Amino acid sequence: MSDPSGQIDHVLIENRSFPPHPEFKKRAVISSDDQYEQLYARARDDRDGFWKEEANEHLHWFEPFGEVCQWKAPHAKWFVGGKTNASYNCLDRNIDAGRGDKLAIVWEGEPGDTRTLTYSELRTEVAKCAAALTQMGIGVGDVVSIYMPMTPELPIAMLACARIGAIHSVIFAGFSAESIADRNNDASAKLVITADGLYRRGKVLPLKETVDEALAKSPTVEKCLVLKRTGTDNVPMTDGRDIWWHDVVDTQSGDFDAVPLDSETPLFILYTSGSTGKPKGILHTTAGYNLWAKRTFEWVFDHRDDDIYWCTADCGWITGHSYIVYGPLSAGATCLLYEGAPNHPAEDRFWDLVEKYKVTILYTAPTAVRAFIKWGDEHVDKHDLSSLRLLGSVGEGINPEAWMWYHKKIGGERCPIVDTWWQTETGGIMMSPLPGITATKPGSCTTPLPGVVPAIVDEAGNAVDAQHGGMLCIAQPWPGMLRGIYGDEQRFVEQYWSMVPGKYLTGDNARKDEDGFYWIMGRIDDVINVSGHRLSTIEVESALVSHEAVCEAAVVGRHDDLKGQAIAAFVTIRDREPNEELRKELKMHVRKQIGALAQPDDIRFAATLPKTRSGKIMRRLLRDVASGREVVGDTSTLEDLSVLAKLNDDEA
Ligand code: WT7
Repeated sequence: MSDPSGQIDHVLIENRSFPPHPEFKKRAVISSDDQYEQLYARARDDRDGFWKEEANEHLHWFEPFGEVCQWKAPHAKWFVGGKTNASYNCLDRNIDAGRGDKLAIVWEGEPGDTRTLTYSELRTEVAKCAAALTQMGIGVGDVVSIYMPMTPELPIAMLACARIGAIHSVIFAGFSAESIADRNNDASAKLVITADGLYRRGKVLPLKETVDEALAKSPTVEKCLVLKRTGTDNVPMTDGRDIWWHDVVDTQSGDFDAVPLDSETPLFILYTSGSTGKPKGILHTTAGYNLWAKRTFEWVFDHRDDDIYWCTADCGWITGHSYIVYGPLSAGATCLLYEGAPNHPAEDRFWDLVEKYKVTILYTAPTAVRAFIKWGDEHVDKHDLSSLRLLGSVGEGINPEAWMWYHKKIGGERCPIVDTWWQTETGGIMMSPLPGITATKPGSCTTPLPGVVPAIVDEAGNAVDAQHGGMLCIAQPWPGMLRGIYGDEQRFVEQYWSMVPGKYLTGDNARKDEDGFYWIMGRIDDVINVSGHRLSTIEVESALVSHEAVCEAAVVGRHDDLKGQAIAAFVTIRDREPNEELRKELKMHVRKQIGALAQPDDIRFAATLPKTRSGKIMRRLLRDVASGREVVGDTSTLEDLSVLAKLNDDEA
């Protein structure tokens, strides 16, 4: 499939560099290169000593741990024998530190209703829910599926599980009955928590009906707890199985102590919306994950007590787990939570929220940034965004031109951008700029965080010239690493630990530049081999996006008798006609930007690109479309199936 050297040819040159604004640097938590280098060197050279101190300083321990890290690849145990509780760390620990009256959650529903919860109030709600779960027979090790809208009750339900040692499995509320049933069955879930309905772009979606359909095929589920959110009439409730939240949660006293749990007690399972194959249940455990989420949050987001922090993800993704719930709440942050769509009632909803709540830190995804660009600057211009001081990006590589727009239009050229690279499996951010010190480069996730030791290798596991790029592995265990795939040890070993023994295989390609900055080059499976040159999808895509007519681009390889593979590009455009002239212009543009080798052979105009529900472009499906094959494989994570039909119809 690929040449044995395993190298990737890097063609996109990006020389722009943005040092932190002096005002920002002055007040930053990490503000000198020395500070970072010391932390990094200590974590690498004295791993156990470093994490022992971190764990003792940043988590509450009911009982102290002994061994810091027991590592027999691929199995890690962290903080062996200690007892802690993630809900305690998020709530009680902050209350004990005097933050009881500080706002933990500031929530806005899609229809405009609002609610706030201080740390004390949040603990009361979590305790009530924990008590109700216990009454329903849920205890340590039981799996609870959560299929809910982004209301405060979603993090409340997660933290209630954590409080009693139940394992939550949050299922994004856009998934089908089939997907819910698959996940219930894979994890043998005992309880499902859901709501009557969900608001989406002004409409009400009947969540409970979907859950009922799933429950007909979920034999292990005994009970279903239902929150009233939309007040939908005639919600089907099955006697003996379904219970209203307001009947069993709201009636509890609000005192329910966190259960001391062993460090390695499973905290949650999260099914990855993986762009390949059947979803897998990624397992994270209590202490290591909690510590990783907290510390990476504090390092990367430069968190200060007066920040209003907004992560726009849904709790159904790892970003929501680590950077709406466990990271920021452990750090005592005030988090904005928004329930609905970014374009309801209008395309300026996000900017309206930033202005209204004086958001200081905004963490969102490249797919959202590209949508904002497409919707037009006028929606941004209506609002005062001067409260913002830091911006973040996660989920995919951000094309340099999208980065520039984010920097100028949203960040007013004063806010650092942290482009955070990580995965569901890594539990938290692995590589990212540190906003007080890193001179960022558009498109690079820059440098590894303390405790992260990357290695770039070829298919035989040998180190390659990192400047060329190859497969990205992580050479040392870190506290937030996945502990397994739930119920599938074999897949865990095969997927992550077989190709390069002893190192965690991320599945991404990356290169390291002359300043030691990392550039993620896309998934290993997405590499395009043109006449023996291995090209990264993101570089060709970024070249296309740098043309003013292109909003989004996805590039895949298709078979070519002569070159091995030819490059097929799918683009969405603005302000131009999708015609032959533009097609030629785009090909020339790529040729000029990065060279003849990378010039696309086909350009197809599309109304939208197929994406996972978490917003990632599904190149796997586009490969089938580009080569004229029938689309095969799992499409359950595709956001909008009609997109595929449209792509097939599209003239080539
Ligand atoms: C994959 C992980 C990270 C939480 C949300 C997605 C891609 C993610 C970046 C980035 C380039 C990125 C990688 C990674 N990815 N962030 N900043 N730059 N690529 O979690 O669904 O587990 O996806 O997303 O390919 O492996 P996920």
